[in-house]
Amino acid sequence: MTDVKELLLSRIRDVADYPEPGVMFKDITPLLADPAAFTALTDALAEITVRHGATKIVGLEARGFILGAPAAVRAGVGFIPVRKAGKLPGATLSQAYDLEYGSAEIEVHAEDLVAGDRVMVIDDVLATGGTAEASLQLIRRAGADVAGVAVLMELAFLAGRQRLEPALGGAPLEALITV
Ligand code: PRP
Ligand code: MG
Repeated sequence: MTDVKELLLSRIRDVADYPEPGVMFKDITPLLADPAAFTALTDALAEITVRHGATKIVGLEARGFILGAPAAVRAGVGFIPVRKAGKLPGATLSQAYDLEYGSAEIEVHAEDLVAGDRVMVIDDVLATGGTAEASLQLIRRAGADVAGVAVLMELAFLAGRQRLEPALGGAPLEALITV
């Protein structure tokens, strides 16, 4: 493991039985509070964005905003928020997706993604892949191209990578850390 990955991993706190018994929550707040680690993470996400020729970053509410916004500034590309339903004032595209129990819906301002855009999706964690998959569907429905998905952490045992494969359509999924 590289020094950067070791630094990032050392600043992620495991919280047992949160938000429910049997779940090990990955808490990134120690990483955000450490300027060296947060800078290293921002640089790594910006490097991925530039390397894959992305022209915009989509951040997924809420934790994807924290990671995606500074990466967009560093990479010199625009930041587009994909929000949970009902938070955006303008005309939106919506995408529903299934959760373990029930469903959820995310939205983007329709004018923010257009044909010719190459979009990198950034989030903190890839778990089942449902949230990221819905974001890729939004991007394609808007007529934009998917440059890839970049996450701080992939929870491999939940097989999100496999779920995401069809929606990626050959675009890369980059995880800085895989657990
Ligand atoms: C968490 C996490 C990812 C998503 C991953 O978001 O930040 O966005 O779940 O899960 P999935 O791969 O199974 O879709 P959540 O909406 O729980 O919380 P947040 O608003 O704090 O980001
Ligand atoms: Mg989230």
